[in-house]
Amino acid sequence: MTRQLADFDWIARPYRVLEYLTLGRMLERTREYFLPLLRDSTHALVIGDGDGRFLAKLLHANPRLRATATDSSATMLELLCRRCNPFAGRLQTQQSDARLTLPHTDRPYDLVVTHFFLDCLKQDELLDLVQRVKPLLAPCALWVVSDFRIPAGSLYLPAWLYVRGLYLCFRILTGLRTTRLPDHASAMRDAGFVCIGRKYLLAGLLAAEIWQNDAA
Ligand SMILES: C[S@@+](CC[C@H](N)C(=O)[O-])C[C@H]1O[C@@H](n2cnc3c(N)ncnc32)[C@H](O)[C@@H]1O
Repeated sequence: MTRQLADFDWIARPYRVLEYLTLGRMLERTREYFLPLLRDSTHALVIGDGDGRFLAKLLHANPRLRATATDSSATMLELLCRRCNPFAGRLQTQQSDARLTLPHTDRPYDLVVTHFFLDCLKQDELLDLVQRVKPLLAPCALWVVSDFRIPAGSLYLPAWLYVRGLYLCFRILTGLRTTRLPDHASAMRDAGFVCIGRKYLLAGLLAAEIWQNDAA
């Protein structure tokens, strides 16, 4: 069965401006929340980093880190390579659909980064991805996740409407077929990851999380 792939190519260049116009620096703050905890990582798998703003900061903050970045969008990867050029010797890239292919590695990753990427997946795709990433990891590897969420309480409805609107925009702009936030937490727990840190931002609409591969 062929799976339709969202095309982020033509929103890749305006992506940063669109992000700042809609949510200011909040996505950036979410992505970077756990950055100080990633200084000991040595080998990262970065999936769907987009234009590479986070990866450039990560490579700058951690001079020992080597990273493999994979993204389905050629234009996003081009921007990422340009932004990470000062660290090119420590970076590999691969253009592929992460639902089908992940970069081969001869050494386990001790860090996975997925910022606002898991919410591009349907639940079954996410379950499958987590199961395929797991064998590539070292014991105790870290996995940082940023995602939208819908908080309970009085903000439930506005947040639900906002997220639905966001999915509609992405459907129009990129052809993304996903229409609701998948439940990454249960998928990760079931695969043996433990959430060791979580921070909600923007009244709970955004979540920064850090998970650890359970060594046992
Ligand atoms: C919503 S953007 C998030 C970009 C960035 N990580 C951020 O925090 O803003 C999703 C990114 O994942 C990529 N992407 C979407 N679906 C993908 C897939 N199936 N395989 C690999 N990359 C994908 C897009 O090209 C884009 O760069």
